[in-house]
Amino acid sequence: MGFIVALDGPAGSGKGTVTKEVAKKMNLINIDTGAMYRCVTLLMIRQNIKLDELEKIEKILNKIDIQFKLESEKQKVYLNNEDVSLEIRTQKVNELVSPVSTIKIVRDKLVDLQRKMAESIDVIMEGRDIGTNVFPNANLKIYLDATPEERANRRFKQNEEKGIKIPYAEILENVKYRDYTDSHREIAPLKQAEDAIYIDSTNMTIEEVVEKVVEEIEKVRK
Ligand code: DC
Repeated sequence: MGFIVALDGPAGSGKGTVTKEVAKKMNLINIDTGAMYRCVTLLMIRQNIKLDELEKIEKILNKIDIQFKLESEKQKVYLNNEDVSLEIRTQKVNELVSPVSTIKIVRDKLVDLQRKMAESIDVIMEGRDIGTNVFPNANLKIYLDATPEERANRRFKQNEEKGIKIPYAEILENVKYRDYTDSHREIAPLKQAEDAIYIDSTNMTIEEVVEKVVEEIEKVRK
């Protein structure tokens, strides 16, 4: 195994942005595991597969290929050789991804892929269960948090920048709904690992959070 930083936290805590920045500064490969659950969700939507159609889900999992590629400083997500970076962020996927991520065969497959990805490279992996379940022996674990209102606010602004129009109230509702399903599911729920460093980013800038994470990495990566 390479050097592993596990970064977990709820939807909209800033994980994505922080992970990207830290990866650049510390020369780590950034792996967005939420994007992987979104890829499975997208395939199910496209093929009209329901949550309880396990045989059909198994079929797509058997053939799934997910790759992260850096293209002109932007991380792109390729699903079965197709760039789905934008499509996995639509409201339809937002709504369905939490229930999809409770399905055991989906988690087993994606966790397996995540462990393989980190076999020979140094990574910063962001998600919900990286420190608790995927890499319980990670070199460093961070749990990044913020209030639901602040997280919805950030999502709203991010969407605005991308030209995506979703009302704030709808985003807040989705954030709260996902918090609930992500932390109450049976398998590998969202939870702070006992040995994770807790960062409340509600009143911090992205730069401050990045700096804090970099400091913590420097302490353990000699
Ligand atoms: O980080 P995100 O919002 O893109 O994640 C989308 C969903 O995927 C989230 O609601 C829960 C699920 N997820 C998970 O169950 N385990 C992970 N390691 C990452 C994401």
